[in-house]
Amino acid sequence: MEVIIKKSADAASIAAARVVARLVQEKPTAVLGLATGSTPLKLYKELIRMHREEDLDFSRVTTFNLDEYIGLEKTHAQSYYHFMHENLFNHIHVKPENIHIPDGMAPDVAASCAAYEQQVADAGGIDLQILGIGSDGHVGFNEPTSSFTSRTRIKTLTRQTVEDNARFFGGAEHQVPRHCITMGIGTIMEARMNLLLAFGERKATAVAESVEGAVSAMMPASVLQHHPNAKLFLDEAAASALK
Ligand code: F6R
Repeated sequence: MEVIIKKSADAASIAAARVVARLVQEKPTAVLGLATGSTPLKLYKELIRMHREEDLDFSRVTTFNLDEYIGLEKTHAQSYYHFMHENLFNHIHVKPENIHIPDGMAPDVAASCAAYEQQVADAGGIDLQILGIGSDGHVGFNEPTSSFTSRTRIKTLTRQTVEDNARFFGGAEHQVPRHCITMGIGTIMEARMNLLLAFGERKATAVAESVEGAVSAMMPASVLQHHPNAKLFLDEAAASALK
């Protein structure tokens, strides 16, 4: 695990964006794993800027998102489908057929999850996976106790995650879906590179336990200690509980 600490979240996001850009320049057909939430927003803004101002070309890139809520239509303002189009895809000319996001409205969730795994495999695996971290240590929506060998599947969000994500639903916890589809930890660990971003004091304990604590299913991000190419981009607040 390589830990990169920058003064601000913006500086850390720009440093992470450079890693993504380098990969896309070296491998224009790169397969990117993407995350939602507030953490990657500045990283996505920087990629959009590089696309506009520096001709960073995403036209041959393939993307796979980590997760999606169950029961939200694609058009719902809080669906991850909507989030990704608003905050990235609409601005960088990724081909629609190259975009993959778990289908939260799939009539057969298990079949849809198995098909998602097959699509990742057919694409040759994920070259670079972007991750945030939950205050409970989740990556994707692999909540504490998730198996390290898990694959894309349905998960129930913890109370903590529902509370954390209520801010996206106007503070209304009852509107936050209780279930989601998420890539598994096994899926994430097969990505050739993992970039985890964490900002703010709210993430400091989870970051410290993931970097310096025991590798444990109770702290899912700690599994990255076993990944051969995992980089953590932190601001000073998220790094503040490290020894
Ligand atoms: C989102 C995801 C989650 C978030 C995590 C942090 O696709 O997989 O693991 O990265 O919940 O969320 P924010 O960035 O909103 O603090």
